[in-house]
Amino acid sequence: MTTPAPASAGCPFRAPGLLDPDYVADPYPLLARAQAEAPVWYAEDFGLWVVTRHADVAGVLRDPATFSSANVQQPVLPISAAALDVYRTEGFRPGIALTATDPPRHTAVRRDLMKALAFTPARLAALEPRIAAATDALIDRFAAAGRADLAADLANRLPALVIFDLIGFPEGDRAQLQRWCLDRLRMSWGRTTEAEQVESAKNVAAYWRHCVAHVAASGGAGRGDPPDTITGALIRAHRDHPEALPLSDVAGLIFGLVFAGQETTATLIAGTLLLLLEDRARWQAASADRSTLPAIVEEGLRLTAPIMAWRRVLTRPACVGGVDLPAGAELLLHLGAANRDPGLFADPQAFDPARPNAGQHLAFGLGIHFCLGAALARLEACIVLDRVLTRLPDLRLPPGFAPRYLPNIAFRTLAALPAEWTPAGAA
Ligand code: HEM
Repeated sequence: MTTPAPASAGCPFRAPGLLDPDYVADPYPLLARAQAEAPVWYAEDFGLWVVTRHADVAGVLRDPATFSSANVQQPVLPISAAALDVYRTEGFRPGIALTATDPPRHTAVRRDLMKALAFTPARLAALEPRIAAATDALIDRFAAAGRADLAADLANRLPALVIFDLIGFPEGDRAQLQRWCLDRLRMSWGRTTEAEQVESAKNVAAYWRHCVAHVAASGGAGRGDPPDTITGALIRAHRDHPEALPLSDVAGLIFGLVFAGQETTATLIAGTLLLLLEDRARWQAASADRSTLPAIVEEGLRLTAPIMAWRRVLTRPACVGGVDLPAGAELLLHLGAANRDPGLFADPQAFDPARPNAGQHLAFGLGIHFCLGAALARLEACIVLDRVLTRLPDLRLPPGFAPRYLPNIAFRTLAALPAEWTPAGAA
């Protein structure tokens, strides 16, 4: 926690609680006011300086020496002694989290992970038909019903299916891993009671042990050839330089990927589908010209900002957006607000896939921690939109639908996306 610096005193802008229901429901009107009146403001409930302007957020992301990532995975609120005790007794000792690592260690481990992911254009092209087939198989399950929750039944499932398969988890692990990720989300970025924390701590510890066991079963423990999976590639890197990449860090990277590779992409898919469904003309235009899908996804990234806000901590005193902050001050970089900065994006709240600079959004971050899965996420979103437009052409939102988001300070996760259509063959 940091002490508010004097710069916030006397500010006319009244800061909201970051988990106030009205703010969670729609933070953007308030963030627009903040950008105009108090572009860097102090959120007392979390002890975080919220940075909202694009130039300020980008400036912080470009300067990892002043703005460390050491705090990005720490729980935003203190964890109870009882939950910490569960972590201790249940063996939760997570290895490296790449997003929370600073150079020089970050540079070396990122190189290993990038090589293991190998999201080259050729590999992504090879994945495309598999992702399309997996999307069709998911749609097959509910197409005849005429209604579905596109978040639970499609958007949340497809990215998990893809990344778990690439990592090398068996299909039977999928549902459990996804439930554990929700525990991690609540534990690290939400507000929970002590009883909820204890329950979630057990699950997060089980999720960690599962990753450790998976690494051991993939060859980490033995001498045989590791499989042709992301885990196998990381184990090869470990064998090549065991001290620089210990086995516990291989498990740490897998623990991180399970979360990073699905939750965010699910939000992008559901959020972009919602943007299209909110206006029939948009839906029809996208359907008529599929070559616009990459631009639609880019604008979807700008407006949905699946990782809405992310942290940094000052290693030395610095001035951010005109506010002098001491070493140790913690920042909440509001990527979602930066993506709607009127100083950069004309008519920033509007959905406009033709805008020339949508690609300047910060949804994937910037600089040394820029998202390693960006190309995969974009590909998955384009494929899902294409398959849904083809398979369910008259898809619509139920009357009166109002989006609801999971209460946490980092991820803009839609609670549900109910939709209806006329099943093929129905009168
Ligand atoms: C729409 C989907 C996604 C969004 C919005 C997103 C967003 C982000 C952001 C904002 C960061 C930077 C964090 C920072 O600066 O501290 C990041 C990093 C990262 N992302 Fe993603 N991500 C997405 C999908 C994925 C996928 C599919 C994967 C893996 C297959 C992935 C893996 C990673 C990894 C490993 C990092 C850490 C990079 C580093 O610290 O060097 N992400 N992501």
